[in-house]
Amino acid sequence: METLEAKKTVPPFPKEKHWLFGSGYLLRENAHMVMPDLIAKYGEIFSLSLPLTRLVIAAKPEYAKYVLVDNNKNYQKSLAYDMLKLLLGNGLLTSEGEFWKKQRRLAQPAFHKQKLADLTAMMVRRAQNEVDSMKSKAESGEYYDVAPQMTNLTLEIISEAIFSNGVDDKADLISRQITMLNQYATDKLNAPIRFPPMFPTPANVKERKAVKILDKIIFDIIDKRRKEGVSKSDLLSMLLDARDEDTGEAMTNQQLRDEVMTIFIAGNETTANAMTWTLYLLSQNPEAEEKMIQEIDKKLDAGVELNFQNVLGFQYVRQVIDESMRLFPPAWIVGRRNTEEDEIGGYTIKKRTNVLMPIWYFHHSEKYWDEPLKFKPERFSPELKNNIDRYVYFPFGGGPRLCIGNNFAIMEMQIILILMYRKYKFRLKEGFPVEPEPLITLRPKYGMVMKVEKRNKQQ
Ligand code: HEM
Repeated sequence: METLEAKKTVPPFPKEKHWLFGSGYLLRENAHMVMPDLIAKYGEIFSLSLPLTRLVIAAKPEYAKYVLVDNNKNYQKSLAYDMLKLLLGNGLLTSEGEFWKKQRRLAQPAFHKQKLADLTAMMVRRAQNEVDSMKSKAESGEYYDVAPQMTNLTLEIISEAIFSNGVDDKADLISRQITMLNQYATDKLNAPIRFPPMFPTPANVKERKAVKILDKIIFDIIDKRRKEGVSKSDLLSMLLDARDEDTGEAMTNQQLRDEVMTIFIAGNETTANAMTWTLYLLSQNPEAEEKMIQEIDKKLDAGVELNFQNVLGFQYVRQVIDESMRLFPPAWIVGRRNTEEDEIGGYTIKKRTNVLMPIWYFHHSEKYWDEPLKFKPERFSPELKNNIDRYVYFPFGGGPRLCIGNNFAIMEMQIILILMYRKYKFRLKEGFPVEPEPLITLRPKYGMVMKVEKRNKQQ
């Protein structure tokens, strides 16, 4: 029997496990789906064994808040971010401590309200170009994969925000590298034995090649701007002009590259996935789709020209996005590693444990949602939204490391949806297999093959 003096233990381990690679191996495939079963069996906090790695799943909103906010000083980014460092270097997503704080302070003004307002016209122009380019597809009625189309569109938008230029002819090349890197990083994370990045395994060699291609694109842009010597009102100029408060030094080329690459990747991959899932969900839920279309028609018929202020007024469009990110959170899990021993839920969390907070599980659990598998944007009406626990629904993370681009992403997605559904609807190819694949982000495993249909009502 336990006594008060009993030594605290680490969270329990599941009984089932791989004979060599431990219970962490249970997550190697479809981790997002396996996790809820494990939580049902072993409770809201449990350990998983992996060679040379401590892993704890913390599946209670209080635990997530504790790690991300209350005791965040004791936590750094987890193992998955080590995998991302080869690509992102020491940028905002992967850096730590005082260095991260300084960089975040420097980048923050680029995401202020006024900056976003300035970017709205560009987002409208880019989204409208995309809509115009759909005309021939709508006429032919052909089926095509909308996922790469969303990737290219969000790539153009994020590039123009950072560099004042699209990447136009390079968009395909870039998105192919990002897809590969997403897969490699996940494979490495799930591999029972992890080789250091410099070790010439076939995966490491391919990964380095993909990073090199992206590096060249980014460095060329930085060099060109330096040579031009003019300051623009974009993020690149802001970072180029920034000076260290103490030393007065500018950022090195490498640091600039890391920050630009981070925002470039983080601002594209997540948003493209969220958009693709939203098109899918709307195609499967004609009632919600119709309600959204009515809102769009009503406002646009009244002669509204989209701008920063009135985009926010498309309330139902926003609810559709919120609900879509509940069902398919692009960041489906978020993790931290403690620097000092800690205690969560009465259990000891040993130093350097990867504590994972399964966003997918929180977003799908019957414990927190009525009919969790149904797509119901009404959950996010202004009256109901305030009752949703901040750490039950957190697609953008939380605490000091909250996504810096959350308002940017929402604005961008609203504009794209409004302009696309003003003219068209999307229909999934009959029998097309839709399956989420939990890579670093949650992607549709086979893409999303749809056709675009002209709506009856035309502007
Ligand atoms: C639907 C779209 C998006 C989703 C779901 C998303 C999600 C997230 C999440 C969950 C985090 C926190 C990760 C952690 O705590 O470890 C994060 C961080 C970050 N995101 Fe996003 N994001 C989105 C769009 C964007 C956009 C558009 C940008 C840039 C324009 C961006 C840039 C960043 C950056 C730089 C960080 C690191 C912030 C820091 O640690 O200071 N994201 N994002």
